[in-house]
Amino acid sequence: MTSIKPHGGTLINLLAEGEQREQLLQEAKGLRRIPINTWTVSDLDLIAVGAFSPLTGFMNEDDYKSVVSGMRLADGTVWSIPITLPLEGADPSLVGERVALVGEADGVVYAVLDVQSVYSVDRREEAVNVFKTDDSEHPGVKKLYERPLERIGGPVQVLNRPQPERFDEFYFDPAETRRLFAEKGWKTVVGFQTRNPVHRAHEYIQKSAMETVDALFLNPLVGETKSDDVPADIRMKSYLVLLENYYPSKRTFLGVFPAAMRYAGPREAIFHAIVRKNYGCTHFIVGRDHAGVGDYYGTYEAQEIFSNFRPEELEITPLFFEHSFFCTHCGNMATSKTCPHDKEKHLTLSGTKVRALLRSGECPPPQFTRPEVAEVLIEGMRDRVAEQV
Ligand code: ADX
Repeated sequence: MTSIKPHGGTLINLLAEGEQREQLLQEAKGLRRIPINTWTVSDLDLIAVGAFSPLTGFMNEDDYKSVVSGMRLADGTVWSIPITLPLEGADPSLVGERVALVGEADGVVYAVLDVQSVYSVDRREEAVNVFKTDDSEHPGVKKLYERPLERIGGPVQVLNRPQPERFDEFYFDPAETRRLFAEKGWKTVVGFQTRNPVHRAHEYIQKSAMETVDALFLNPLVGETKSDDVPADIRMKSYLVLLENYYPSKRTFLGVFPAAMRYAGPREAIFHAIVRKNYGCTHFIVGRDHAGVGDYYGTYEAQEIFSNFRPEELEITPLFFEHSFFCTHCGNMATSKTCPHDKEKHLTLSGTKVRALLRSGECPPPQFTRPEVAEVLIEGMRDRVAEQV
């Protein structure tokens, strides 16, 4: 059984049940209602099920400041990304009050929160520390700048959960993945984060990792992404067809990560690793420009950042991979670690180029994307365009 402990030692569970839930739902009717958007609903749910262990709520000011400045919670536990609840015009008099968190889109009472802290953030400082830029063209910074300055923090008790519109059979909470990995007898599981279709380079690094561990947990992020990323429902179909044709079913497990993408590069790599540890992974793949966007981060910065922490502080073992490609001379996938040939022999395509090919109904070369995957992507994009006209 996977022996890795959740981050902070305990798997957090903040889902109110039975009588307690009924009472809180009653109480919530009389509480001040705080609207929350889908991003916050997703954070809330991940906090509730322990994917963000040891967090028990939205960050208070001490934790927030400590995370932004030093990548640790106030008690010293490693944590690299602020998880906060924005509330326009929040007043310090809210401290001590219990409030109801209500979905702004659906009116669902998702949780109650005991307000411990009301504070304002310095968005520029957060941007520079977390995203390494204050450029509002950066999608993570843009989101940050769109949010109000004021935040409320405190522990939550969750009363309702967001319901997946599709692919609900691939939603597993950390308690479930931990149990399933144990049932399968897997002692070592490598987690793979992705917000893209799985191309041959992804497959190569996954399978290289699979040579040394018991199983792969393919854990695509399906929360909010930027508009030019391939939509999650199309990606899910592409993962299924790929797994069916090219992966050993006994050693592969597909489950989604319903979080929003921050595009925070190095800091997000740490966050992604910690969360996968909570899901029960013992290893985590970090390739080139993990969680990066544009040219904001160095190719291997998301790997280098791990050297800031002692292995026992993270416990999950990062597996680093260099930029991988198909070498026409070797006739196989490789990296500069394994291939002696010049760049001209290497097949590399930019994401933009691949998307353009797919949009025009053309398959990228099979050395780049499996034809079965390309077909799903082409069809998905065609349907999407048809829906939009
Ligand atoms: S990410 O934003 O989720 O990191 P993506 O889905 O492209 O983006 O990457 C998933 C993982 O594969 C990341 O760890 C990334 O570093 C790695 N990766 C993507 N492409 C390559 C490549 N050509 N070579 C090596 N690693 C890669």
